[in-house]
Amino acid sequence: MRTIDNYNFAGKRALMRVDFNVPLDENFKITDDTRIRAAIPSIQKILNDGGSVVLMSHLGRPKSGPEEKYSLIHLVERLSQEFNTTVLFAKDCIGPEAARLAQDLQPGQILLLENLRFHKAEEKGDPDFAKELAALGDVYVNDAFGTAHRAHASTAIIARYFPKDKVMGYVMFAELDNARRVLENAERPFTAIMGGAKISDKILIIEKLLDRVDNLLIGGGMSYTFVKADGGQIGASLVEEDKVDLASRLIGMAREKGVNLMIPVDSVVADAFSNDANVDTSLSHHIKPMWMGLDIGPTARDQYAEVILNSKTILWNGPMGVFEMSNFSVGTEGVAEAVVEATRRGAYSLIGGGDSAAAVNQLGYADKVSYVSTGGGALLEYMEGRELPGVVAIERDDY
Ligand code: 3PG
Repeated sequence: MRTIDNYNFAGKRALMRVDFNVPLDENFKITDDTRIRAAIPSIQKILNDGGSVVLMSHLGRPKSGPEEKYSLIHLVERLSQEFNTTVLFAKDCIGPEAARLAQDLQPGQILLLENLRFHKAEEKGDPDFAKELAALGDVYVNDAFGTAHRAHASTAIIARYFPKDKVMGYVMFAELDNARRVLENAERPFTAIMGGAKISDKILIIEKLLDRVDNLLIGGGMSYTFVKADGGQIGASLVEEDKVDLASRLIGMAREKGVNLMIPVDSVVADAFSNDANVDTSLSHHIKPMWMGLDIGPTARDQYAEVILNSKTILWNGPMGVFEMSNFSVGTEGVAEAVVEATRRGAYSLIGGGDSAAAVNQLGYADKVSYVSTGGGALLEYMEGRELPGVVAIERDDY
């Protein structure tokens, strides 16, 4: 495998794609720096070898051109503190300024480029744009697992300009290693916990997991599409009407395959989608008209915890309720606590991306589980068995 450990960066300028798509508050302060911290070992390795680093990333989904809230300049201070040096910044990721700053880089120095997505060419995978970026480095390092499912200029196309000098960073390698461990070598009982708002985002992964897991615990907004498919009355809960048949098929498939698929038996319900709404507990199959399920209920929480505590491998993707609202965060907290305890007892736990990773980080549990992925969509796509362009571009000679 082409990994960063097999490359000597002495005297080289490494052009490194990172996923610095981090959340910023209204004052442009970083609210979760997990992805920055994750990239540090790769950057450090290059500097320790005697190389210099040109960092490139996207931030958010800017619509047309530069926007202050999506500028990577907001990350310069954090990076400068981390490496105890002044991190240089290029106000455009291509063009004469970026070229000059990259050219003048000395070993030990770091240059951060402005948001790649300020150019539409990035997402289009434009080869000319990729070539211009490629001119900024001698070797290409891809450590952006979170973006590896995108065939963008900087994540995949660019690799063709570095036929020999292209490697994966530590994040990329660790992510693939942990995902493969769950996909290929899961110790039983294997429990997957799937949450989040929509079943449509998780269909393929659920189908795939039904061939592998012993238990599949359903939570979050998508529970109610399952409850409806199971003949329940869900009041005003979120439902994907066009996915009710599919949910019913998945319930049938689970039965055939001997998988214990659990839908929350009870729910925390509210009469409005608000933390100030009236709150009650209800059987998930008998939610009153106008009321909606916004979290798994206390019985479901206990049942899920028991299954989790008896598992040897745990994969968790998606919160159990509207975690951002304190009245509906208890289910997610309960599951997180059970995952932490199961891990302490020797289970392997992989927390997959996005909101469930944010919940684990917020609760201070990040180092009490086996691995917290930096990828949301990328991890799901990988687990669905799809090739990730960012990985293929490094692994294949002829990309
Ligand atoms: C993510 O946050 O999942 C990655 O940074 C990818 O972002 P994207 O979905 O905007 O491509």
